[in-house]
Amino acid sequence: MAESIRHFELNNGAKIPSMGLGTWKADAGIVGDAITTAIKAGYRHIDCAQRYGNEKEIGKTLKKLFEEGVVKREDLWITSKLWCSDHAPEDVPLALNRTLSDLQLDYVDLYLMHWPVSMKKGSVTFDPENLTKVDIPSTWAAMESLCDAGKARAIGVSNFSSKKLRDLLDIARIPPSVNQVECHPGWQQQQLHSFCQSKGVHLSAYSPLGSPSNLGSTMLKDQLLNLIGEKLGKSPAQVALRWGLQMGHSLLPKSTNEKRIKENFDVFDWCIPRDFCDKFSDIEQVKLISGNTFVHETLGYYKNIQELWDGEI
Ligand code: A2P
Repeated sequence: MAESIRHFELNNGAKIPSMGLGTWKADAGIVGDAITTAIKAGYRHIDCAQRYGNEKEIGKTLKKLFEEGVVKREDLWITSKLWCSDHAPEDVPLALNRTLSDLQLDYVDLYLMHWPVSMKKGSVTFDPENLTKVDIPSTWAAMESLCDAGKARAIGVSNFSSKKLRDLLDIARIPPSVNQVECHPGWQQQQLHSFCQSKGVHLSAYSPLGSPSNLGSTMLKDQLLNLIGEKLGKSPAQVALRWGLQMGHSLLPKSTNEKRIKENFDVFDWCIPRDFCDKFSDIEQVKLISGNTFVHETLGYYKNIQELWDGEI
């Protein structure tokens, strides 16, 4: 009998729904319909970010769904993220207020520091001239205040290496509940996975399908995923997602296509047998999101991607 794995418990006692809809690259004009489809299909978790530029449309859609009685606010889990140009402590509450106003909500369930990278206030481009010195402890203290105020029920980080997470855990008054990172069978994050587990930080996986729209991503063509899919009568995408669930990760596949939104949610009443799971360690590991726009040899706080990821690449 397959374990359903609908939620994971965080270090603050909150239960995060294991399957969320990713909204990065979900374009304006389309993202609203995707959310309506997802919620009607059973999703209760939406992963947003101010940087994605679509929170206003998401807010309008949620309001309509609440008014129509399709779902209640308290039954949804909404994540959003603090962008790099809002890291100054005085800007952190303003950034969350903007997100709350766009989403038409009183609180988010989870607020994440989007990257361990700081940019000049008000900067919108990835120009290296905009990169500034990172001061994670100061930004984190401002995030903790949002938690105290109840505007963010949980706080966490995204794109943090084990080292950066350890440094943060050393100084945090409220420990991060989540580290949201790229994670899929083609980039399994074994070291980070073990570190997060040992510290009670939940690992949430973005690009859990290996970002098939990304040029060069071939993960869904992987032989093992296809073989397991054929044996179980599932698609390679479903196999990738179910693997993530069995690893203990919440998953944030992005789709704006009704068929695929539903397909990605059909991962609860079956499982990948243990002997197949053991074979995942043979899959070639290729990181897709390098963060290379956040590093610069001379102008960047991080000189190269090794420094950004502390060698976990
Ligand atoms: P679409 O929105 O047209 O469905 P990831 O979450 O790993 O970054 O992947 C997102 C990409 O994967 C999007 O381009 C999305 O396209 C596509 N996608 C989502 N679900 C599936 C699926 N079940 N099978 C194949 N591709 C998918």
